[in-house]
Amino acid sequence: MGDRVPVVEGKSNPGGKRLVIAIDGPAGSGKSTLAALLARKYNYINIETGAMYRVLAFKAIEHGIPLEDGAKLAALAQQSRIELVPRPEGNRVLLDGADVTERLRSQEVTDAASKVSVHPLVREWMVDSQRKMGAGGGIVMEGRDIGTKVFPDAEVKIFLDAAPEIRGTRRFLENPASAAHEASVVAELHARDQRDRTRANSPLAPAPDAVLIDSTYLTLDQVLARAVELIDARLSRIQRSEMQA
Ligand code: DC
Repeated sequence: MGDRVPVVEGKSNPGGKRLVIAIDGPAGSGKSTLAALLARKYNYINIETGAMYRVLAFKAIEHGIPLEDGAKLAALAQQSRIELVPRPEGNRVLLDGADVTERLRSQEVTDAASKVSVHPLVREWMVDSQRKMGAGGGIVMEGRDIGTKVFPDAEVKIFLDAAPEIRGTRRFLENPASAAHEASVVAELHARDQRDRTRANSPLAPAPDAVLIDSTYLTLDQVLARAVELIDARLSRIQRSEMQA
């Protein structure tokens, strides 16, 4: 089943240049929200690569596969069918045909996703799958290594960041009814950040040509406006060079 790759269903937009928009950044920086809004605005497909690591982590836990065993995890990925199905309220994530979306946000899966993502064999499979998914353009792909590794030639690269306290509080407020205390949510986020930034293979880092947006003091509308400005400027430049050619 090695030929199976994650499938993304989405709207198509024939005609016009369809870009690859790469959004990277740490947890809680607002990547998913921004990516979803941009995908809707440009009628692009939104690919949350974190969901792919989460779904693999979820399956590994279910199958009792040690999170330290990169070879077994990569083999598990190859035997899996991961689908992102767009819905107005956000992507649904299917694993081998079953909707597991609600299972992926638990603390256990969140932590495990960061652990499975350190393995080079796992990353190789993920990167390969993500490149196939985005090959036709017309995508907003968000994660940690999209601008550096998955699509180093992406037409638009955004690195979204925010102060750690703000990111921790935002994460806590996403699910205030949970039993977790704000301090423990913040501490977990810091630990995960540290692991994502310091791993040997494709650590979280801005691509040299990424535009940094620090959302610490920005509203969502302001972040969106800045991203749209960048994308529209890129589209205009492409249009001008096409007209001159
Ligand atoms: O974006 P997220 O919180 O759903 O990501 C979960 C974990 O997956 C994150 O801690 C690191 C990993 N990840 C990664 O290593 N590379 C990506 N492109 C996306 C996520």
